[in-house]
Amino acid sequence: MSENFSISPSGEKFPLPKPEDYKKEFESLKKRVELERAKKREIVVVMGVGFVGAVMAAIVADTVDKKGKPSKFVIGMQRPSERSFWKIPLLNRGISPVKAEDPEVDPMIARCVKDKKTLIATYTYDVLKLADVVVVDVQCDYLKEDLGNVRSGQTDMAALESSLHVIAEHIPANALVLIETTVAPGTTEQVAYPIMKKVFRKRGIKSDPLLAHSYERVMPGRNYVASIRDFWRVCSGINEKAKKRVEKFLTEVLNTEKFPLTVMDRPIESETAKIVENSYRATILAFLDEWSLFAERNGVDLIKVIKAIKMRPTHNNMIFPGPGIGGYCLPKDGGLGLWAYKHILGFEDDIFKITPMAIDINDTRGLHVGQLTRDALRNMGQPIAGADVLVLGAAYREDVGDTRYSGSEIVIRKLAEMGAEIRVHDPYVEHWWEFEQQDSFPGVGQSKSRFFRNQEKLKEIRIEQNLEKALANAEAVILAVPHKAYLKMDPDKVVKTIGHPAAIIDCFGILTDDNIRRYFQLGCEVKGLGRGHIQRIKEEIRKK
Ligand SMILES: NC(=O)c1ccc[n+]([C@@H]2O[C@H](COP(=O)([O-])OP(=O)(O)OC[C@H]3O[C@@H](n4cnc5c(N)ncnc54)[C@H](O)[C@@H]3O)[C@@H](O)[C@H]2O)c1
Repeated sequence: MSENFSISPSGEKFPLPKPEDYKKEFESLKKRVELERAKKREIVVVMGVGFVGAVMAAIVADTVDKKGKPSKFVIGMQRPSERSFWKIPLLNRGISPVKAEDPEVDPMIARCVKDKKTLIATYTYDVLKLADVVVVDVQCDYLKEDLGNVRSGQTDMAALESSLHVIAEHIPANALVLIETTVAPGTTEQVAYPIMKKVFRKRGIKSDPLLAHSYERVMPGRNYVASIRDFWRVCSGINEKAKKRVEKFLTEVLNTEKFPLTVMDRPIESETAKIVENSYRATILAFLDEWSLFAERNGVDLIKVIKAIKMRPTHNNMIFPGPGIGGYCLPKDGGLGLWAYKHILGFEDDIFKITPMAIDINDTRGLHVGQLTRDALRNMGQPIAGADVLVLGAAYREDVGDTRYSGSEIVIRKLAEMGAEIRVHDPYVEHWWEFEQQDSFPGVGQSKSRFFRNQEKLKEIRIEQNLEKALANAEAVILAVPHKAYLKMDPDKVVKTIGHPAAIIDCFGILTDDNIRRYFQLGCEVKGLGRGHIQRIKEEIRKK
């Protein structure tokens, strides 16, 4: 009989649990929880140990009471799917299942598992029977059907809905259920509550489920832990009791003394706060897209314009959008909002203009990089078809290894459509699953490859981590992400390493004017998003 495995990113194979394993697992959990209760520790189950859940679980497990003694015992719970089961055995060894640039993540997980012994992980839903608090950190995706049209997409609530069902079937009636997942506004009251209440009634429980919502503001990167623990939180509960319980829980586990909690009247307000917060960000980024084109066509350097504007304190959160806006949240959260208005809250009219437009602009901004690369190569007498193009940076933002919805993906897909040969360098990313496994990642039928032609060979993309090797013989180099390693590249060295002049495309205002000048002197062609003054520099050099 063939065995099913779950394979970790480093290639270790873990056999999936068999039906007979579940009983034994639960028996051992029960014994362990008894011991922990005797130590007066609250039992917290964190459902979904992904990017957010794994770190949240460790933060809760790290909590101490006023006497400095650990006050929570945390059990990370994760579906035993082929794709995710490996996270459980890794966590149980004290190894973080997520790769984080924050040096605090690995030692914190190791400390809680091995020294404090306040963190374990399991695959059995039965663990929910032992919970005082359940923190829900499973995903709630927004699936887009077209490129650049968020309106035709829909919310994928399957994982969340099935989690809520299972939770209601297992938890003690007075356990607090805290939904941290970013959800479509209305979900806690109009989706989660009815699902859970129905199951409660079936179980003969007369009380209402104690449901609460508080969203994550976690930022991948060097301050990952602090962005959860040492940061302001918004929360709410379905009734007064749930509100009090969530306030108490978050006050105990987060640094709320320095970063006070905001408690909203109703969960829909806390849910809406998250969606508006991220739609605001997506909008102020999207709005610069048209000014970026304006700048390119009229000799203006938008990077300097933004710098000048940011001197004014009221405008200092302006940021240049690069080749698109990625990360898990900004491309989808506004979509959850529009979808909720219609499908949860029941309105038929269309009140949204700016939010969907912003997302559509951000989702397609990378396409223009294909044109810039084509033009730069053409100016050097070379067609884009067949050209060797190096993309520097796969991640969605600087100095992180997270590739979810990164602008670089769109840049590459467009370039492949135009016939370019692609290579990629990123110091933080080992595998770019969006390409390597595009038939099944992020889900079957969900790859952005379906919006472009000529994508098949992109499966062969392997990230080169040696910059010199990556540069050798490239015909175009696209600076797609402002990773530290790309900020101070010396044009002379770059051209020497490449071996000949090349087209240099700056997507993030990385090149200084001196760099641009030098590249031209070395026979290169330079173009950049929002950098219309490049033409002026080129003419200066030509005249000399
Ligand atoms: N990653 C970020 O930067 C970020 C920032 C702010 C908010 N958020 C929000 O946090 C939530 C979680 O995001 P994430 O990045 O951790 O996602 P993720 O995909 O990394 O993790 C979700 C985990 O839940 C597991 N899971 C799914 N269904 C389950 C079930 N029925 N039972 C048990 N486990 C289950 C999955 O296997 C996965 O490990 C999302 O709503 C997201 O929008 C994420």
